[in-house]
Amino acid sequence: MIVLGIETSCDETGVALYNTAPWEAGKPAFQGILGQGLHSQIAMHRDYGGVVPELASRDHIRRVLPLLDQSLAQSGLKLANIDAVAFTQGPGLAGALLVGSAFAKSLAQGLNLPSIGVHHLEGHLLSPLLGQTAPQFPFIAPLVSGGHTQLMKVSGIGQYELLGESLDDAAGEAFDKTAKLLGLDYPGGAAISKLAEQGRSGVFDLPRPMLHSGDLDFSFSGLKTAVLNQVKKFEGLNISDPQAVAQFHADLARSFVDAIIAVLVSKSEKALKQTGCKHLVLAGGVGANTQLRTALNASALHNRFEVHYPPLDLCTDNGVMIAFAGALRLLAKNNGATTSGAFDIKPRWDLQSNNLI
Ligand code: KG4
Ligand code: ZN
Repeated sequence: MIVLGIETSCDETGVALYNTAPWEAGKPAFQGILGQGLHSQIAMHRDYGGVVPELASRDHIRRVLPLLDQSLAQSGLKLANIDAVAFTQGPGLAGALLVGSAFAKSLAQGLNLPSIGVHHLEGHLLSPLLGQTAPQFPFIAPLVSGGHTQLMKVSGIGQYELLGESLDDAAGEAFDKTAKLLGLDYPGGAAISKLAEQGRSGVFDLPRPMLHSGDLDFSFSGLKTAVLNQVKKFEGLNISDPQAVAQFHADLARSFVDAIIAVLVSKSEKALKQTGCKHLVLAGGVGANTQLRTALNASALHNRFEVHYPPLDLCTDNGVMIAFAGALRLLAKNNGATTSGAFDIKPRWDLQSNNLI
């Protein structure tokens, strides 16, 4: 079965074609990726310091068709070869989701194919299965993206249990807001991580929010405020030496990264202990962070668990993860696929409510 996947939940337009044949034959899942196209709107939103929803929707409209053509050309397939259309139904920006939903539903109707609405976070959670070494179920997944920070227990396809989540800012949001405070462009996650490499650990004593809360929830907004306080304090010193300013920024970035990673790693270890799982899977855009990967690798060695990462290009939003999650759902029974042309989106959507029975 060949599944077309469409992702438009936020500021990336992603289109991909996925063939389920290798997966059904027990071969590595990545062999099913036939073609893909991705356009990031980051440059367009940068001037505004964040995603402008209306601009995002309009740009998805412009990009989705050329990206479909690109994916078809790359795979050597024609529209007639597609068996089903998967699209991100939520959560995300309503206008952006509507573009993908309308496009996917219209195409499916026109080609007389079933369509399936995919939960964006299910796409992130299953994308590590597309890596060179796929994790075994059950696994614990810290799902750390720009919009979400959750600890999930994944027992199988469509079997998700929320163990804990952020009570305020998501980890990626904390990265982006802190980056802004340090004068870095949106989205600052990768830039702050790079800056932190030049910084010294321990210069600033930033909080590690909810580290000892006893549960698996997170809170990151206080950390951002602590960074702001340090920035204000430094500004009050009126230091203009560019080298001193650069060192301050790098040291503060280092302390921020150290703090956020300490919490993410500690709560992941706690979730593994609590559930008895031996496999950890890092998912979501912040999963591209090298310091987080290094810390999890060290913890895995020390605490004897296995850690898996999605391929780097599949950490942030993309069409492949939606095509793949949609394809695995389509192979399952009671999967929610429909031939209805009505398009409904779910800007707010609890992943567990979409579990397969
Ligand atoms: O999963 P994603 O592409 O979009 C959402 O679904 O939200 O994640 C985007 C987030 C942004 O906040 C971005 O700053 C962060 O992932 N990010 C990183 C890194 N690369 C992307 N954060 C820390 N380190 C990185 N290397
Ligand atoms: Zn995402």
